[in-house]
Formats: sequence, C-alpha cells, structure tokens
Amino acid sequence: MSVRKAIFPVAGLGTRFLPATKSVPKEMLPVVDKPLLQYAVEEAQSAGIEQFIFVVSPSKNAIANHFGNSNELERVLGDTGKPSLLASIRDCQLPSSAAQFVVQEHPLGLGHAVWCARKFIDEEPFAVILPDDLVLADEPCLAQMVTAQEGVGGNMVAVMDVPTDHTSRYGVLAPGKVHGRLIEIKGLVEKPQPLKAPSTIAIIGRYILLPEIFDQLAEQNKDVSGEIQLTEAMATLIGGTPFSGFRFEGERYDCGDKVGFLEANIAYGLAREELHDDVAAVVLRMADALKSE
Ligand code: G1P
Repeated sequence: MSVRKAIFPVAGLGTRFLPATKSVPKEMLPVVDKPLLQYAVEEAQSAGIEQFIFVVSPSKNAIANHFGNSNELERVLGDTGKPSLLASIRDCQLPSSAAQFVVQEHPLGLGHAVWCARKFIDEEPFAVILPDDLVLADEPCLAQMVTAQEGVGGNMVAVMDVPTDHTSRYGVLAPGKVHGRLIEIKGLVEKPQPLKAPSTIAIIGRYILLPEIFDQLAEQNKDVSGEIQLTEAMATLIGGTPFSGFRFEGERYDCGDKVGFLEANIAYGLAREELHDDVAAVVLRMADALKSE
C-alpha cells in the first residue's frame, strides 16, 4: 500500500527560540524566506502525500492561516503586478479537503501528538515528519524512504550517524543486518547516555509507520518526564513485521537548535542559485574576519 498521509506534530512550545516563538509557532520560523513547516509539506508533496494532518497546540492559528487562502494579499499582489510573489503564496495553499488540523491540548510528547491524529489514518502506512529536521538532498528524504519502504514493507525511520556524545539527543537504534542503505532494527532506545547507547545511529524526524502503532500508543504510560514517547511505542513493534533504519542521502540540519538553524539558513541560501554568490561572499568575509580575531 502506498503512503498517502503525513502527520506533522507542530504543537511544541518552541521554548528554545523564545522570545521569537512567543507568538509565532517555531515551525513558522523562516529558513531564507520559507517557514520550516512549508519545507516539510513540500517534501511530503514530492513523496506523493495527499493528506496533511497537522497536530497543533490550541493557540496555533498561524499554521492554518499559512496554508489557507489569502484573498486580500493575492488581490494586492495581483493589482501591483507581482506575479512571482503571487505564485509563491499560491504555492503554499493546501485545498481544505487535503489539510486536517487536530489540537493537542497538552504537550504530552511526540507519541501523544501522533496518537492525536489517529482518526485521520486508516489501515495504511503513514508518514510522520518533524519540521525541525530539514534535509537538503537531491531527492527529498521522504521520497527516498517511500521508495525503500515499498520494497521492504513494514516500519521505517530515517537514520544518520551522530557523534558519541550526542546520543542523548536522539532515539538510537540497536542495528542488525545491513543491506545498502537499509539497517535492520533490533532495538530502539530514546535519548540514551553515550555509555548506554546501543550504537551511534540516530533517528531523525522522518518516519513511515504502520497503524498498529496506535494500539501501542493508546496503552503506553508516560515516561519520567511526563511524556508519551514515540520511540518506546515503536520499540514494541520490532519483531513480526520488518523494521528498518534508512540511511538517507542528503544533509540534515537540526533547526530545533539555534546553531543548527543558523547553519540551515546559510546552507539553504547557498543552495539557491540567485543567492549563492552573495551568501558565499558574506560567509567568506566572516570567516576571514574570524581568522584574524
Ligand atoms: C524526537 C524523537 C527522537 C528523534 C528526534 C529527531 O526528539 O523523540 O527519537 O531522534 O526527534 O529529531 P526531540 O528532538 O523532539 O526531542
């Protein structure tokens, strides 16, 4: 069965980016000129996703507004003869039949956010995309995964190697057999300390999951931090159906972190043909100034 639906958990408080996120959801912060969440939606679209399910916090109208119509702005851009800007705002509209919004009343973790979207998922594999993780790649990360998942079936998470002292920031897998970009998953641990980590292969925010996960999430208790962890629920699914880690092609930027977010802005600026030379000149000038510090 093909993957047609994607869940975007976007109900977090974004405290690491306060005060910017006091009134603007973290997922609406721009990388160059597009909100993080729009990159995630476009990645999903290019992987064939048709239904977009946003798990939002009670106060996040900005997200629905971004993907809705903006008649007044369209009229102004149309009247003032700005076709490329007009196209850019039309590009981010999702038909109301394709976008669902479900409110996560309390911040009870990623597993709970995914569970909140359960009524929009039928008996089919679905994707979860964490917009904090941007992946710059020739073929978008989720599209790579969909192709791979069609080959092997089962559950799949995107993975990458991280430094040993970073394991406590990620879900980390205990690897089994390796076939090209696919790694058999034998165990999953959420944010282990380096000494307890089963490897340095970490999950980044792209998942293809089977709907069985909802039964597990429904029963799962909160962890010590009061959250329902997706990783813990996924760990219980290891066994019967295949569960694979997928080493994607591309560069991942952690936009949940200030430095990662700045790095993403530079990388995406450099990747834009019309901006490349100017951004490169600024970066080189800064690097020279730093060298002589
Ligand atoms: C979440 C998941 C974690 C995963 C990470 C990827 O953590 O819980 O397993 O490795 O996303 O970015 P968070 O970054 O929300 O703390």
